[in-house]
Amino acid sequence: MMTANITESNGRLCRVCGAKILPFMSFGKMPIANGFLPPDRTASEYMFELAPAFCRGCSTVQLMEQPAREKMFHENYAFYSSTSRHMQTHFKAFSEMAVSKACTGRRDPFVVELGSNDGIMLQHFQSAGIRHLGIEPSQNVADVARAKGINTLSEFFTVELADRLVAEYGHADAMLSANVICHIPDIHSVAAGVARMLKPDGVFMFEDPYLGDMIAKTSYDQIYDEHVFIFSALSVSAAFGQHGLELVDVAPQVTHGGSMRYVLAPKGSRPVSPAVQVLYEKERAQGLNREETFVQFRRNCESSREALRDLLTSLKRDGKRVAGYGATSKSTTVLNYCGITKELIPYICDTTPIKQGKVSPGMHIPIKPYDAFTAEYPDYAVLFAWNHKSEILAKEQQYAAQGGKWVVFVPKVAVE
Ligand code: TMP
Ligand code: ZN
Repeated sequence: MMTANITESNGRLCRVCGAKILPFMSFGKMPIANGFLPPDRTASEYMFELAPAFCRGCSTVQLMEQPAREKMFHENYAFYSSTSRHMQTHFKAFSEMAVSKACTGRRDPFVVELGSNDGIMLQHFQSAGIRHLGIEPSQNVADVARAKGINTLSEFFTVELADRLVAEYGHADAMLSANVICHIPDIHSVAAGVARMLKPDGVFMFEDPYLGDMIAKTSYDQIYDEHVFIFSALSVSAAFGQHGLELVDVAPQVTHGGSMRYVLAPKGSRPVSPAVQVLYEKERAQGLNREETFVQFRRNCESSREALRDLLTSLKRDGKRVAGYGATSKSTTVLNYCGITKELIPYICDTTPIKQGKVSPGMHIPIKPYDAFTAEYPDYAVLFAWNHKSEILAKEQQYAAQGGKWVVFVPKVAVE
């Protein structure tokens, strides 16, 4: 069924299959999501148009335009993976799965992680004495990993780098990646690089925010500059299949508000789990391969924006004290798309030192240290770090006990 609401883009072709893609909405001009900036530098802020598109050919959801990678990943990258306790536990489990699938019983196994950040996952291989290499282009976070003794190379992963690494270290038993593959526009260079680097019985496991969750929860804040793709099993299979890699298993994850782990292996080398076919069918039933799903998603985003603006406006009218909780990259999309200024949310508290004392991208809301939250509880806290909800609510029982309320906006705008 066709819809009248989406027209093909002029020129932009699908990064996976080369068909013309269909932009289904625009969030307007956006800054770099992790581009927290000093208050005196707001005049020259870089902006680009944030517009996701759908490919009718291969069902891949992708951005029309993405800023140059050097604008996003550099020596001041503001995201440190190790800030959440739950993420620590999560990556320990991920590393254990990789060991059981591709290290146990092998002589001198070699594990490579793409986008290894501060070493939150590779530390488990390092402490087990397993040969490992992290590829992390953002220098500051890579330095943290190196300080922990984790072998880390600060470069962008491409097929050319893969060839150099094979010459230097040999082929990999396992390649891993979390919240990274969806950042890389040249998916074919990555897929070809992985295919070249893996041993014939090697395995590539990666996880990223999952399109099915984003559609089901209207979690439009997954869409920002870094996330050039929002993957599904259908699109992952289309992209990696072109390079001889087969999707052999899938496993949903609760991290980042709903993610999917994809297990890929050289075609024919491993049995394909029945879970893969089940997920393809579920995705088709959810409409992840149909344009009208994305037209409806846009309408849901518009309703969500209206509800959040109305709620914050009425809290201000009633003289309530409001603060943001967690200056997440995702919050940049919410604040800018909804036009939320510091009149509505005067400040956001965050535990990451590099963000504190700066202002949020685009809307320039001051970022305060976490202590500012406990020193003077607001009446309402907007939970921008909603993906860490259980960890945060457990930690902030005292806030709730003395009457503090949470404002949430995924899956629906509500006060809790
Ligand atoms: P993420 O949603 O992309 O993982 O980013 C989480 C952000 O929220 C990060 O800047 C740290 C911040 N944060 C807090 O301020 N307090 C917390 O309790 C947690 C879990 C995260
Ligand atoms: Zn396509």
